[in-house]
Amino acid sequence: MVKIASSFLSADFSSLEREIREVEAAGVDYIHLDVMDGHFVPNLTFGPMVVEAIRKKTDLILDVHLMISDPGKYLEIFVESGADILTVHTEIDANVGELLGRIRDAGVRSGGTIRPVTPVSALFPLLDQLDLALVMSVEPGFGGQAFKPESLAKVRVLKEEIDRRGLDTEIEIDGGISVANAGDAVTAGVGVLVAGTAIFGRGGVAKNVAAIHRVVEGPV
Ligand code: DX5
Ligand code: ZN
Repeated sequence: MVKIASSFLSADFSSLEREIREVEAAGVDYIHLDVMDGHFVPNLTFGPMVVEAIRKKTDLILDVHLMISDPGKYLEIFVESGADILTVHTEIDANVGELLGRIRDAGVRSGGTIRPVTPVSALFPLLDQLDLALVMSVEPGFGGQAFKPESLAKVRVLKEEIDRRGLDTEIEIDGGISVANAGDAVTAGVGVLVAGTAIFGRGGVAKNVAAIHRVVEGPV
């Protein structure tokens, strides 16, 4: 079963509890939370306080995407805030393998991710330590950007390598996902589709999530 992760970057932050209830009712699998530090990416969002506030209102899996230059400084705080998955970028100036070890040791699922300019091979040395491998299909920093179709080739290569090693690492894709490309992403090997604009944009959450479900699973 393909999973859907709703990116709250496009949610209404003045009514977070309502948005949580809507994605729960729509049957999403994860709540994807985009943490940005204004340094690794040219945008600022929120930190562990908001993750903790959301944690108090839902049992859904909280999939926290850390677009920050120094995640090592904050890992334990994010663990305490109730994150279920912590994903770090490979492009940071740090020992990513060591960070992934700390994430798993804390009992949280580990994620590693690459920007569109980073070759997929950057994930290979880390694969054995990854519960989730995230391929960014837009430049990280903002919601509502156009999907980069070249990211599908990366997904195919990643899927092959994960299968070759007999791992059960989930492949997630993030950025510009909609009904127009969700099917192609799944065919390429994606197991978790992140969607922000396509879920919280026009049409309403319930209808939008149902439309993505239909594309990837066929009519029920
Ligand atoms: C971008 C974020 C994404 C973003 C996706 O930096 O990592 O999670 O919110 O939003 P859409 O689905 O609108 O591209
Ligand atoms: Zn994200």
